[in-house]
Amino acid sequence: MSKTAIVIGASRGIGKEIVAQLSIQGIETFGFARSLEDQDEENIHYRTIDLTSSSLKEDLIRLTSEISQIDYLINNAGQIVVKPFLELSKEDILSCYQVNVMSVMEVIQVCLPKMKAGGHIVNISSIGGFQGSVKFPGLSAYSTSKAALVSLTELLAEEFKETGISINCLCLGAVQTEMLETAFPGYKAPHSAKEMASYICDFTINAGKYMHGKIIPVSNSTP
Ligand SMILES: NC(=O)c1ccc[n+]([C@@H]2O[C@H](COP(=O)([O-])OP(=O)(O)OC[C@H]3O[C@@H](n4cnc5c(N)ncnc54)[C@H](OP(=O)(O)O)[C@@H]3O)[C@@H](O)[C@H]2O)c1
Repeated sequence: MSKTAIVIGASRGIGKEIVAQLSIQGIETFGFARSLEDQDEENIHYRTIDLTSSSLKEDLIRLTSEISQIDYLINNAGQIVVKPFLELSKEDILSCYQVNVMSVMEVIQVCLPKMKAGGHIVNISSIGGFQGSVKFPGLSAYSTSKAALVSLTELLAEEFKETGISINCLCLGAVQTEMLETAFPGYKAPHSAKEMASYICDFTINAGKYMHGKIIPVSNSTP
C-alpha cells in the first residue's frame, strides 16, 4: 500500500519542492497552504488552509477526513517578521507564534490520531531557534517562536514515546527562498529549496527508524 504524507506550507519555497519530490516517489502527498487552490493531480492533492484562522482545527478535521492513515507529517509552514524588538506589535508577535508554533500543535492534534507505529512527524525549525547558535537582530519574534517549536518537539516525543511514531525537528540554515530574501536581502544561500527539500524528504522517509525526539541543526553557513 502506498504511503501518505501531509506537507504544511506547500505553496512555494522548500515546501513546494518537498511535495514534488515525495509524490515522484509514489507517496500520496497532500499539500496545504493559503494560496493553493483545492486541486488533485496524480499523487498530489493541494488544499487551501489558513493557519491563522480561528476555525483552523475544524478546517483541518474537514480537510483530513478523506485520509484514513497518515505516514509522514512535515510541519514546514513558516511566518517571519523582521523588525527591531522595540517596534514589534502584538500582531507581529502573534503571527509568528500562531503559524510557527500554535498551528503546529493543532495540526499534530488532528493528524497524530491517524498515524501508527512507523509514522514520522518532522517539524521544520530554524538554526536561529537552536540553542547556542549565532543570533541576529530583528528576528526575536521569529526565532523565539522557532525555539518554541524545538521545545514542543522534545515534549511531544516524550508524551508519545510509546506509540512508535517518531517526532523530530530539523533546524535549517540558509536556503534560497522568499523568506531568506526577507530576512537577509541580497544574501546568497549555500542551498536551493530543491536541495534542502531533497534532504528533508530523505530524512522524513528514512530517519524515523533511527531517531526520536532529536533536534538536528542542518546548517553549514552563517546565517
Ligand atoms: N529559507 C530559509 O533560509 C530558512 C531557514 C531556516 C528555516 N526555514 C524554515 O523552513 C520552512 C520553509 O521556509 P521557506 O523559506 O520555504 O518559506 P517561504 O518560501 O516563505 O514559504 C512559507 C510557506 O508557509 C506557508 N504559510 C505561511 N503562512 C501561512 C498561513 N498563515 N497559512 C498557511 N500556510 C502558510 C506559505 O504558504 P502561503 O503563503 O501560500 O500560505 C508557504 O508555502 C519555514 O518553516 C521556515 O521558517 C527557512
